[in-house]
Amino acid sequence: MTLLVTGGAGFIGSNFVLDWLKQSEEPVVTLDALTYAGNLENLQALHDDGRHTFVQGDICDRALVDRLLAEHRPRALVHFAAESHVDRSISGPGAFMRTNIEGTYTLLEATRAYWSALDDDAKREFRFHHVSTDEVYGTLRADDPPFAETNSYEPNSPYSASKAASDHLVRAWHHTYGLPVLTTNCSNNYGPYHFPEKLIPLMIVNALAGKPLPVYGDGQQIRDWLFVSDHCAGIRAVLAGGRLGETYNIGGWNEKANIDIVKTVCALLDELRPDPAGPYSRLITYVKDRPGHDRRYAIDARKIERELGWRPAETFETGIRKTVQWYLANPDWVARVQSGAYREWVQQQYDQAAQS
Ligand code: NAD
Ligand code: DAU
Repeated sequence: MTLLVTGGAGFIGSNFVLDWLKQSEEPVVTLDALTYAGNLENLQALHDDGRHTFVQGDICDRALVDRLLAEHRPRALVHFAAESHVDRSISGPGAFMRTNIEGTYTLLEATRAYWSALDDDAKREFRFHHVSTDEVYGTLRADDPPFAETNSYEPNSPYSASKAASDHLVRAWHHTYGLPVLTTNCSNNYGPYHFPEKLIPLMIVNALAGKPLPVYGDGQQIRDWLFVSDHCAGIRAVLAGGRLGETYNIGGWNEKANIDIVKTVCALLDELRPDPAGPYSRLITYVKDRPGHDRRYAIDARKIERELGWRPAETFETGIRKTVQWYLANPDWVARVQSGAYREWVQQQYDQAAQS
């Protein structure tokens, strides 16, 4: 019994691997290319743990994926690896098409070959779990009901279009070849090891550095927020009991406007690490909006609750406090992540916004 996890050195993948090995003796093999977003330090706690094997490699490398499947004989593949940042998909969509579409296709084909040759029992037990996003459904108006699994796909960014394409491939490999797949579409995650290019960690690290807190447009865009360990628990529930070929929406029942998220982070920092220069909210700076910016996401997570009994354990209030505390307790992780290519990219992004 082994899990093969792709993208396990990224934000959600590393939380998933760490949580999995806290709760199970089942070994994990992590396949991750270690792009700018992959950070082996996230998995440092497993360095001497015989249950975990790390392999640096690309999900588009068919020969490598074939070899890992043949060597480790996993009973499931959990697929997190992706290019995940919407702003990067706008400035450079190519990597998104390659990893998110071609990479998923490569995994599906390699897995189909491996799965087809399994004996009947192993074939029945096997799962390909595809981790996807609520962004595939497009955007909502203020009075629209939240996204249900039956909503049509209307992706608006290069990122969400590439994820939508990957979801369609996964669906087709089930429908056509019978591959035992599961797909989860989750809302915005936050928590430990979140790379500080995304809203919440960026606001925390910028505030601590006394830098501007860039809010896109009017700051009234709405996202649904889920603490990352709740997402990991939702994936475990679907992997264990989800119906084959089905999709499950995972969300936190926590719709918040971006500006309110930023103000909450500022207030927590005022309490936990007061700045003699004044309240952190003084750093809030409105900048040019993201092109094609989706106005609102919201998730109807009743299906996973009804069928599998999953509900988030954290409220936004408890989750955001834990998150801010984690960043305050891990300044070395933050400092190392902020060095090198990441810093250059962020600088370029916000220089452009400031000039507009
Ligand atoms: P992330 O960017 O933090 O991590 C992605 C990981 O994938 C990194 O470790 C990176 O090195 C690896 N990777 C990238 N290209 C690769 C390739 N070609 N081969 C192998 N590894 C590669 O992303 P995340 O936020 O942890 O998201 C994980 C998954 O969850 C993604 O599929 C994303 O679409 C999905 N998702 C994310 C959120 C969120 O709020 N972050 C919400 C819903 C769904
Ligand atoms: O909804 C799930 C998606 O959530 C995932 O599929 C993506 O991988 C993940 O990156 C996330 O996408 P978003 O675009 O919603 O996340 P991001 O943190 O980039 O932005 C959240 C909101 O905050 C969005 O409306 C844009 C805004 N924002 C973001 C940044 C980085 C700002 O106002 N300022 C910023 O500096």
